[in-house]
Amino acid sequence: MIAIEGPGYPILVGDDPAVAVRDVLARSGAQRAIVLADRNVAGRAKLLARAAEAPLVLFKLGERRKTLRTVARALEVLLHGGADRRTLVFGAGGGVATDLFGFAASIYMRGVPFAPVATSVVAMADASIGGKTGVDFAARKNLAGTFRDPVAVLCDLGAIETLRRAQLREGLAEIVKAAVIAGEEPFGRLEALAATPLRAWPWDEVIRAAVETKCAIVAGDRLEAGRREVLNLGHTFGHAIESVAKFEIPHGSAVAIGLRAAGLLGLEQGGFAAADHARVVTLLQAIGLPVRVRGLRRRALLNAMRGDKKARDGRLRFVVPSAIGNVRFGVDASDETVERVLDAVAKPPGDGERS
Ligand code: GLY
Repeated sequence: MIAIEGPGYPILVGDDPAVAVRDVLARSGAQRAIVLADRNVAGRAKLLARAAEAPLVLFKLGERRKTLRTVARALEVLLHGGADRRTLVFGAGGGVATDLFGFAASIYMRGVPFAPVATSVVAMADASIGGKTGVDFAARKNLAGTFRDPVAVLCDLGAIETLRRAQLREGLAEIVKAAVIAGEEPFGRLEALAATPLRAWPWDEVIRAAVETKCAIVAGDRLEAGRREVLNLGHTFGHAIESVAKFEIPHGSAVAIGLRAAGLLGLEQGGFAAADHARVVTLLQAIGLPVRVRGLRRRALLNAMRGDKKARDGRLRFVVPSAIGNVRFGVDASDETVERVLDAVAKPPGDGERS
C-alpha cells in the first residue's frame, strides 16, 4: 500500500484496501464503521466490510440513480443502522458511489466521518479526491453537493482486474486530462503506453501520477475559488454532452469529446499550438476514446453549458489549454465561437487535428 500525502488526508493506493482499514478507522476517531457500496462491486466491498467488522449495505447505482432520492435512501440506511458521529462511513464504488455516499455522509447529522473506497479508474484518479460530493439535480450534473474532506481515500487497485476494458478506457479520459494539466512528462508517458494492451498498463504508476497532479492543485484551492477550475478541463462540454444525451454517453467518453472541444477552443482563441491539440486528439483516439458526438442539438448543448456551475450570469466560462502543461481557467468565449466548436466536434477530426 502506497500512501500519498493528500490535501489534508492520505490517499492510500494498493491492491488490498482491507489492510488499510484499521489505520483509517483509528485516524477517524470513530468507534465503528458502516460500508455503503455499489452492488456492482459487492465482492470488493465484502472484503472491506469484513476487515472493518462493519455491516455492508449494497445500492443499485449508475448515473441515473445519482439523485437526491438515492441520498435519502442512504440517510435511511445510516439512521436505521444506528450510525452517529462516531461512525465512519466507507463509500465504495466508482465516481457515482463516492460522490453520492460522500454527500450523504456530509449531511447526515451535519456530517459524519467518511472514507471513499474507489474501485473505478475515474474514482481513483479524480472523483474520490478533493472533498467534492454531490448528486445530479434538474438534469444538471452535480448541482446539489458539498465540499467536505474525507478522513482518507482508499484506491482499490485490486478492483482494476474486475473492470471491463471499456471501463478502463472510460477512466483514462480523466487521466489524459490530468496529464494535459501536468505537462510533458506524464503526457509523453501516456503516449508511450497507448499502444500497450490496457490490461498490461502499470496502473499503480498511472493512477499515482494523476492523483499527485490533483492533490497539488486541490491543496492550493480546496473550495475551487480559482485554480482548481483547471481540473474541469473538458468538463464544461463533457457535462453538457452527458446531460443532453440523457446520460446515454458515459462520463469518460463525454470528457474525451470535451477535451477535443476545449483544444479546439484553444486553437480558436489562439495560444494553443495545432501540434499540441493534434497530440491530445491522437492520444484519445489511440486509447479508443471517442472525440466526436453526433445528433445532439447545438442549442440544447449551449443551454446546458449556461447551467454549468462555472457560468457567471449566464456567461459561459471555459477551461482551455494553452500548451500541454499550461491550462487557463475562467476563459470567456462568445456563443458564435462555441457554436463553431460544437459544429467541429460533430465531425471527425480533420487532418490538422491528428499527429
Ligand atoms: N473533478 C474536478 C475536481 O475535483 O475539482
